[in-house]
Amino acid sequence: MSALPSPTAPDDRVFPVETPSPTLRIRGLDKHFSVNGERIHVLSGIDLTIAPGEFVAIVGASGCGKSTLLRLILGLDLDHRGSVELDGKPVRGPGLDRSIVFQDHRLLPWLTAERNVAAALLRSGLSRAEKDRTVREHLALVGLTDFAGAYPGQLSGGMAQRVAIARALVNRPRFLLLDEPLGALDALTRLRLQDELKRIVRHEGATAVLVTHDVDEAVYLGNRVVIMHPRPGRIAEDIHVPEAARADRSSPEFVALRDHVLERLGVHIPHVGPHGDSHGGAVAAVP
Ligand SMILES: Nc1ncnc2c1ncn2[C@@H]1O[C@H](COP(=O)(O)OP(=O)(O)OP(=O)(O)O)[C@@H](O)[C@H]1O
Ligand SMILES: [Mg+2]
Repeated sequence: MSALPSPTAPDDRVFPVETPSPTLRIRGLDKHFSVNGERIHVLSGIDLTIAPGEFVAIVGASGCGKSTLLRLILGLDLDHRGSVELDGKPVRGPGLDRSIVFQDHRLLPWLTAERNVAAALLRSGLSRAEKDRTVREHLALVGLTDFAGAYPGQLSGGMAQRVAIARALVNRPRFLLLDEPLGALDALTRLRLQDELKRIVRHEGATAVLVTHDVDEAVYLGNRVVIMHPRPGRIAEDIHVPEAARADRSSPEFVALRDHVLERLGVHIPHVGPHGDSHGGAVAAVP
């Protein structure tokens, strides 16, 4: 006989229901590649836990293993040491609970925006009417209702990337992985889409992992900024971003954090003199 009280017990007792929290937990992750017979140590001792609803931005020099890390989270590469777990279960392959947006939109040119988004629902169990509705909702979410019937070749770069974001979200994944999603856009479009991305991820309640070379973008979007160092790729620092810093790009909190991240990435920050004169020239992007 079970010692647990029955949930249907005829009294006023309330029994807590355990809701599983969709946590991503990476422990001691090591990854090697072989190139021309040479073994390259790409990721070393990665420990990273991401809680539901967090927006984690990852920055680091080119080649330090950021995209490789996303592929391991997606389950596209299972050849590694250490563990990648979702809700305590090892990731064994791709799933509808995780989706990714790349720098290039990767839309199918022969399908309209609407059909491109709908294509991601092929494996979902939704009815035809539910599919149509969720596609419409997600095109509205990215502000493209009026372009549902347009082909990728008829869209601007920013619009195509919005479609890619809608496609990634249409299955309502718990994890949205973003590999430099705004990297190919002009500066103004990029700033606008950063605001959009923040709003959309919040609206969907997704947990986001963003890889970016733009340190401003990382501090503006991330609740956390994870700094990686190269050869082998490892986590050098995992910084909590206070809301005050995230909310306003001109706030002292934002500027201080951005400068700190840049320093950790080896970018020299000029010291501004009393007359506003500065020496050196920092750029808010990682090589
Ligand atoms: N399929 C592969 N086979 C062999 N080596 C690979 C493979 N994929 C990546 N690498 C190597 O792994 C290292 C990390 O690559 P990765 O693409 O993860 O870096 P990254 O941090 O995303 O760089 P970037 O910022 O330029 O996109 C690089 O040295 C790269 O050459
Ligand atoms: Mg990459």
